[in-house]
Amino acid sequence: MTDPIERTARFLLEAERPVVFTGAGVSTESGIPDFRSPGGVWDRFDPREMTYKNFVGTETGRRKYWEIGRHSYPLMRKAEPNRAHLAITELHRLGRLDCCITQNVDNLHQRAGLPEEKVIELHGNATRARCLACERPYSRDEIQEWLDGGVEIPTCAECGGIVKPHTILFGEPMPPGATEEAERRARASDVFVVVGSSLVVYPAAYMPVHAKHAGAALVIINLSRTPYDAQADVQITGKAGEIMHAIVRRLRSLQ
Ligand code: APR
Repeated sequence: MTDPIERTARFLLEAERPVVFTGAGVSTESGIPDFRSPGGVWDRFDPREMTYKNFVGTETGRRKYWEIGRHSYPLMRKAEPNRAHLAITELHRLGRLDCCITQNVDNLHQRAGLPEEKVIELHGNATRARCLACERPYSRDEIQEWLDGGVEIPTCAECGGIVKPHTILFGEPMPPGATEEAERRARASDVFVVVGSSLVVYPAAYMPVHAKHAGAALVIINLSRTPYDAQADVQITGKAGEIMHAIVRRLRSLQ
């Protein structure tokens, strides 16, 4: 049986429309904690508090959200793309990437050199924000300055409305079009590589299922088990940076 790195490299070599699907596990090696590993975000904060209803509906909800955001954003802001992001960008440069569907909001795929049009962000992007009332755009850096200057609940400088980053909270509608486009690309893929996701949040976690049902070869690269491991054609337990780097190195030697 060929080793899983070789098998994945060969799948990518022969693919017409390879899609990579990433979760928070692709950014932990950049210093950004994931959500469900021990010590992850949901070990420290209660996801039931981080709902869209709480944020939009109550000042307390917004105060809590921004208290967390003020301390977590600098970690994301100073993070650098790691070998996993760079390997995915290398796939694009080798002409071996239809698109990268990501659940991450850290903008690291774009900072690793993937063109915007190659990144489908299912849960939004934490570097941008807007006023929910008048839609005035804000950068998250600008808001961080307000928070560091003592503002507890940022409001719109224009109309006083609620300002919110472009990241999807539980119970919030997904970015229009992103889910549909991701589903279309998953169904059209012939190789679908999951990197660093627990595959437990929907509709994102349906994407590998759409790909598999459409006949794609499914590869799952993760540090821990996922509910779809049994359906994977290749399942690799390991660190995203090391594994993705090894796959791209093998692919280059086959080309
Ligand atoms: N290499 C490979 N896998 C890793 C690494 C790594 N260096 N670090 C962590 N992992 C794995 C973990 O074992 C875990 O299974 O990545 C997975 C990350 O899973 P989650 O923390 O659940 O993150 P994700 O799947 O992206 O969560 C989806 O849930 O809370 C919401 O909106 C949030 O987008 C997020 C969504």
